Amino acid sequence: MNFENILSTSNQGVATITINRPSKLNALNKATIEELHQAFKAADQDKDIKVIVVTGSGEKAFVAGADISEFANFDVENGGKLAAKGQEILFDYVQNLSTPVIAAVNGFALGGGLELAMSAHFRIASDNAKMGLPEVSLGVIPGYGGTQRLPQLIGKGRAMEMIMTAGMIDAQTALSYGLVNHVVAQEELLPLAEKIAGKIMKNSSVAIGKAIEAVNSNYKDGVNGFEVEIEQFGACFGTEDFKEGTTAFLEKRKADFPGK
Ligand code: COA
Repeated sequence: MNFENILSTSNQGVATITINRPSKLNALNKATIEELHQAFKAADQDKDIKVIVVTGSGEKAFVAGADISEFANFDVENGGKLAAKGQEILFDYVQNLSTPVIAAVNGFALGGGLELAMSAHFRIASDNAKMGLPEVSLGVIPGYGGTQRLPQLIGKGRAMEMIMTAGMIDAQTALSYGLVNHVVAQEELLPLAEKIAGKIMKNSSVAIGKAIEAVNSNYKDGVNGFEVEIEQFGACFGTEDFKEGTTAFLEKRKADFPGK
């Protein structure tokens, strides 16, 4: 696929999607959001892709937010539509993919950038990363899920403070809040993502997809996560991956999962 605003590559089962507008600190305009949707969809549907890594190009930014120049003149109706469409095709879409998504936060992750990172299944960061939701400094609120996912990840009080102050936290603070799982030097960030991806890939991608669905169901209104877990646990018993995983264990060999 040919993209103007992103790069999408794959290597040994890992798709790397790189937001590539460094002169605008990788800000998310409409076209970029649509390209990201296409790239995530293609990677998720590719049977050979077991893990997706999303990162930003350049050394300065993961994503410095939604593109402010694009929505500065919007009215109430268009503002609402902007948030609804973005949540549908990118932020909720990424969270609900059955292929694991790791955000490798390589610099500023602000506004929509932090919201994209929070839509990923987990995050790692380089030590220069800075994260925040500065929307109220612009007279708006986070609209791509930030008011929901930030409290889920770091607790209500810390999220309220970050949102109200519009301030940025550094990578070590993000680590201590549990917003990111690991912090490394910038040159070690993608190698770490690949190393973690390598560990994930040894396991059943079918089971991982079901685990993602069960974990996510805890955060969905009207859905009982324990019931989803029971349902997905049972469904695993009908899969080739389950037969292979249990047979390999009993035969004292490594499993070779048929996969998604
Ligand atoms: N939307 C549109 N353009 C953006 C952008 C955004 N969210 N963030 C950065 N840019 C653009 C700048 O306008 C500038 O473009 P220009 O060179 O054509 O003027 C370019 O990216 C570089 O940014 P600049 O502000 O010069 O870099 P800096 O190092 O001085 O500051 C930041 C970095 C991240 C502190 C600053 O860019 C910033 O505050 N960005 C907006 C963050 C934000 O509020 N995001 C939430 C949006 S809802």
